[in-house]
Amino acid sequence: MSTVVDYINENRQRYVDELFELLRMPTVSADSTKKDDLVKCAEHLAAHFKSIGLEASVEKTPGHPIVYGQWLGKPGAPTVLFYGHYDVQPPEPLEMWRTPPFEPTIIDGAVYARGSSDDKGQFYTHVKAVEACLKTRGELPVNVKFLIEGEEEAAADNLDNYIKTHHDKLACDHIIISDTAQFDEGCPSICYGLRGILYMEIVLTGPTRDLHSGEFGGCVDNPANVLGRMISKLHDTDGRILIDGMYDDVLALTAEERKEFAALPFDQKKYQDEIGVPEFFGEKGFTQLERVWARPTCDVNGIYGGYMGEGAKTVIPSKAGAKISMRLVPNQDPDKIEELFRAYIKKITPPTVNVEIINHGKARPVVVPTDSPALVKARRALEKAFEAKSVIMRGGGSIPVVETFKQELKVPALLLGFGLPDDALHSPNEKFSLDNFHRGILTSAYLLEELAG
Ligand code: BES
Ligand code: MN
Ligand code: MN
Repeated sequence: MSTVVDYINENRQRYVDELFELLRMPTVSADSTKKDDLVKCAEHLAAHFKSIGLEASVEKTPGHPIVYGQWLGKPGAPTVLFYGHYDVQPPEPLEMWRTPPFEPTIIDGAVYARGSSDDKGQFYTHVKAVEACLKTRGELPVNVKFLIEGEEEAAADNLDNYIKTHHDKLACDHIIISDTAQFDEGCPSICYGLRGILYMEIVLTGPTRDLHSGEFGGCVDNPANVLGRMISKLHDTDGRILIDGMYDDVLALTAEERKEFAALPFDQKKYQDEIGVPEFFGEKGFTQLERVWARPTCDVNGIYGGYMGEGAKTVIPSKAGAKISMRLVPNQDPDKIEELFRAYIKKITPPTVNVEIINHGKARPVVVPTDSPALVKARRALEKAFEAKSVIMRGGGSIPVVETFKQELKVPALLLGFGLPDDALHSPNEKFSLDNFHRGILTSAYLLEELAG
């Protein structure tokens, strides 16, 4: 093991340089003008896989390509599949970035760039660990497969279809995903649960054209006003969601789980200062961690409608709409929640407007057992690399493929996040700690060794 670790230490700077190359590629999956950049990135990764000794291919899909890599030189040994995504969220608003999103810049030991923590810097740790092992020993202790997709942030279903039609190719004993955050700095963590999501849009249409608000104001219901009234009916003043049936299937936390959450070293003040809110708000009767990890949400992600240009234009808009996401928790079924959402929206839509309700994607919540042998090994690897005690935690975000892996390949994923809570995922100034990048690579190298035994 020491030669592998030496190699990782000696190549620390080159590894960072290579990560920067990846981060310079503007792989925004939601932006159709960036299609070629995603193809370029996929080809770059496949070529890189080959250069470190893997077999690799770029797999075409109806959307952005998947990168596949494998090393199967240890027949009889377990097979580990690493999943990650090379696509990133749109970087806007650009004026809020201190350094340009696709020009990686180191400040205080962290690299600032879109996709640095979510997820390029994270999945790359495993690529570099595999490289270190292959270059120093000529072989790996286990068989390895890489599945790196380009549509995670776009909520597309092409990867699902790929997994459904490639059971044999993707067959494995363990799945490792580094696409979550650690509980805190210096607190290596394993994530054993994620929330699901249901993403909807409602579009209200009133008059067939924007109207003069003087000529018609007062006798026509304004879709933007209606939207406001409807949004105000999504929650009561205590933060409880008012959609009929929303909580019917919510699995309550056990007393044991609540105790475990409460025992984590949660620094409420640090969390609050980092996001800059004057006060927290959430469902009454639950702690901050309980709200984020184990309670459902209903949030407006964006609102549109009417005149947003310079100065004043007096119109009653013909249309207004909102994008609304619901985070779902164990036992909630996205399909059922979609039905409840549709029924509730229809119930609260007045007869003065027409409503269209659109689905933009869904994912199931997941929890995995916390006592599996793989999880215990992963904790050992983490603690060795980070030289600190590990914790188990949950996450509030969603990784749709986790459930697909469970259903199709019958393998629970191990969520080994190397991000930090203040990495600013999806926000301006996303960053990734270079110390975590390095220790993440070490963790992966130790873990490969652990999983062989
Ligand atoms: N890496 C995140 C998910 C995540 C972040 C989980 C932090 C736990 C903690 C992932 O890239 C992501 O952003 N997922 C989307 C899924 C959506 C597009 C279906 C999300 O959670 O919004
Ligand atoms: Mn991610
Ligand atoms: Mn993301």
